[in-house]
Amino acid sequence: MRILLTGTAGQVGGALLPLLRDQYTVLAPARAEFDLSKPESLASKLDALKPDLIINPAAYTAVDKAEDESALAFLINGDAPAVLARWAAARGVPMVHFSTDYVFDGSGRELWREEDPTGPLSVYGRSKLAGESAVRAAGGAHLVVRTAWVYAAQGANFMRTMIRLASERDSLRVVSDQWGTPTTARTIASALVEILRKGQADLPDVFARAKGLVHLTNSGSTSWHGFASAIVEGLRSRGVPLKVADVVPIATKDYPTKAARPANSRLDLTRLKEAYALLPPAWDIALAAELDAFVTSEECGGR
Ligand SMILES: NC(=O)c1ccc[n+]([C@@H]2O[C@H](COP(=O)([O-])OP(=O)(O)OC[C@H]3O[C@@H](n4cnc5c(N)ncnc54)[C@H](OP(=O)(O)O)[C@@H]3O)[C@@H](O)[C@H]2O)c1
Repeated sequence: MRILLTGTAGQVGGALLPLLRDQYTVLAPARAEFDLSKPESLASKLDALKPDLIINPAAYTAVDKAEDESALAFLINGDAPAVLARWAAARGVPMVHFSTDYVFDGSGRELWREEDPTGPLSVYGRSKLAGESAVRAAGGAHLVVRTAWVYAAQGANFMRTMIRLASERDSLRVVSDQWGTPTTARTIASALVEILRKGQADLPDVFARAKGLVHLTNSGSTSWHGFASAIVEGLRSRGVPLKVADVVPIATKDYPTKAARPANSRLDLTRLKEAYALLPPAWDIALAAELDAFVTSEECGGR
């Protein structure tokens, strides 16, 4: 199977690349060669690449910046996936696309199920919802994977920001009234590889088992404050010298951001379990593995 994988410089694409390369031929064009902000250029590139499966984790992911760059966010997150999905549908090529918890408005206390009504609060959320709709509307075999709060030992993410701030500041103030599930890129990658295991011919049936849409995060949930506290405790227990003494809980209203974020972002994983017999590890177990990877990295002195 020849797989076109986008966004390999990003967290999820970067975690998928080595796992997929073990088993398949992976076509991983650099951003400049396969630029999602130029959707009109993509069909001829797809004709040349001739993938048997498209996996599209590339996205415009700068949630706050998107409020000022709405057109670009919609181009990359909405129009480009539409082109990929239409090309794929016309040729019987299955497609995996990624989406976000930010398609929901975050109301209530229940876990969000795939069929629940969406109501994005931000430009980013609306642009990702446009991508979901376009992939579905193209009518080909597809799986949209909604994930949340993604991080990895590399890349720009919350864990790495907290690690940096914990060594620079005495005190960290972190939002404690937004709830979700920190999710490692490697959890997402290994679950997707498991879903793809049946092979190319079976993928339309495999994707149909989840009705083309599945939630995939680590298990359990916490707040950003809970996540930050676990990062700091985890670093300390691994002997990393830190300046920070306190991780102080604050309210969203005391940490204004350009884009509004859902208060309740927790995704229900029942469909993942029922369709694919997968139950990802608890978020704190996955964090421990990521902190182990960080502290043994050269960046942290390879202790
Ligand atoms: N990060 C999260 O917390 C989160 C939460 C929920 C859902 N998701 C979704 O999960 C998926 C993967 O996210 P991630 O965390 O892996 O994102 P990421 O680390 O920000 O990576 C995004 C990738 O997309 C590439 N990209 C951006 N603009 C592009 C363009 N015009 N043409 C081609 N490639 C472009 C980036 O390239 P450069 O490296 O060159 O910029 C990068 O490789 C996305 O669909 C995202 O919306 C993420």
